Amino acid sequence: MAENRDSWGSTFGFLMAAIGSAVGLGNIWGFPYKMGMNGGGIFLVVYLVLAALVGVVVMLGEFSMGRQTGRGPVGAYRALCKKFTFVGYFGVFCGFLITSFYAVLGGIVLKYMVSFLAAIFKPSTAAVMTTASGDFFGGFVGNGGQMILCLLIFMAVTVFIVSAGVSGGIEKFSSVAMPALAVLLGVVIIYVAFQPGAGEGYKFMFGVHTEAIKEVGLWTIVKTAAGQMFFSLSLAMGIMITFGSYLTKETALVKNSTVIVIADTCVAIMAGMAVMPACFAYGLEPGQGPGLLFVTLHSVFAEGMGGFIGAFMGFLFYLLVFIAAVTSSISLVEGVVTFVMDRKADKGLDSSKRRIPTIIIGVLIFAFGIPVSFDALGGGISGGAMCMTPAELFGMTDNIHGWNDCWLDFYDVITEGILMPLGAFLMCIMVGWVTGSEFINREVQKTPGVTKWTARSYFDICYKIVSPVILVVVLIAQFGSFFG
Ligand code: TRP
Repeated sequence: MAENRDSWGSTFGFLMAAIGSAVGLGNIWGFPYKMGMNGGGIFLVVYLVLAALVGVVVMLGEFSMGRQTGRGPVGAYRALCKKFTFVGYFGVFCGFLITSFYAVLGGIVLKYMVSFLAAIFKPSTAAVMTTASGDFFGGFVGNGGQMILCLLIFMAVTVFIVSAGVSGGIEKFSSVAMPALAVLLGVVIIYVAFQPGAGEGYKFMFGVHTEAIKEVGLWTIVKTAAGQMFFSLSLAMGIMITFGSYLTKETALVKNSTVIVIADTCVAIMAGMAVMPACFAYGLEPGQGPGLLFVTLHSVFAEGMGGFIGAFMGFLFYLLVFIAAVTSSISLVEGVVTFVMDRKADKGLDSSKRRIPTIIIGVLIFAFGIPVSFDALGGGISGGAMCMTPAELFGMTDNIHGWNDCWLDFYDVITEGILMPLGAFLMCIMVGWVTGSEFINREVQKTPGVTKWTARSYFDICYKIVSPVILVVVLIAQFGSFFG
């Protein structure tokens, strides 16, 4: 079949793009706030265990599936085991829905970035420097017009890069941005460490708080950590299958899967070490939820550092978070675009031009992002927002289920909460019990110099038993929470 499939320019470029996909708002925004709501240290421990037992295993499986078949998720499942093709569709759907809220969050980051940029020139009067951080955040998310504008810009940037293709767009962009982000995060961590009260933050993060287990419940902690793990590692929606399909033989799979998981986890912990101590130092509430990153670090820059330095550091920090968000959202959109392009290739159509499909997909994602932008993240019509929340739409009066309070949570529960654990479960079942792991073994050994699949028996046990059992527990906990 005449097909001109792009491939990575180098293993380093691939690694940066994969880390660029993995490291994003999930690490910097999601991890600290979920840790804050789920008992701190205990959440961290559960997360680490899950990353080792499920994360690395699923990551290796996805890369192998992609490289073996040279296809995105749907094509890869179809080629390996036809019955499981629907799992590939789950992935494409998840990618679509995740981007619809991811881009809204990216828009919020954009707003902070621009506000701090403007404040560099007049730090004493700029609203971002003088308004209390909670009020600034509330004021912005309640402003539907500004939210939608930021969403639009964020989507436009994403679509622009994706249409440039794999090695030209994604790879170049990530190779610079990822190392720079790590450095700046380091600077913020060091600054925060010297603020009075910061010590409490480390105790919260690294201590085990038994009272938290009682209060939140162990199952909630496990299921939140699991969803967070998939999301943060960009797993279980086929994006790593897609990335694997662009891999050449030179790339060692086991080693790189492990490196990606470790790097991603390090960034999440670093984000926690920036946000949590700051939260205690400035007397903010660690369990406040999705606004945590914005509110706490805003305080660090505007109140703590203050003046020109604060504005400048704030700008730089949000610029890098913005870049991290863009490298992730391009991978999300890339998954959906690859699906469409693979379909074209399968039908013998020209699959070399991706611009128009990318734009169409971008517009659809934008449309799904509209309710997310307009409900003021849970304010709803009753709170003066322009759009009903899911709870208002479905006539529900309580918000205890964790999915109906705003559209962002609704999309998040469908994807990260249900479809991703389910997809990962089915993939492990497929590899463990249906196709067997021999195809992974073959892929692993393709790399020159690699003669053996390191720790194969560990991976095999995880595919067959450990990961499926964990994932069933996660799914039961998830459904359990819907029904109280
Ligand atoms: N991993 C990214 C983050 O932490 C988000 C992301 C990118 C993602 N691609 C994905 C999540 C694929 C799930 C699936 O921000």
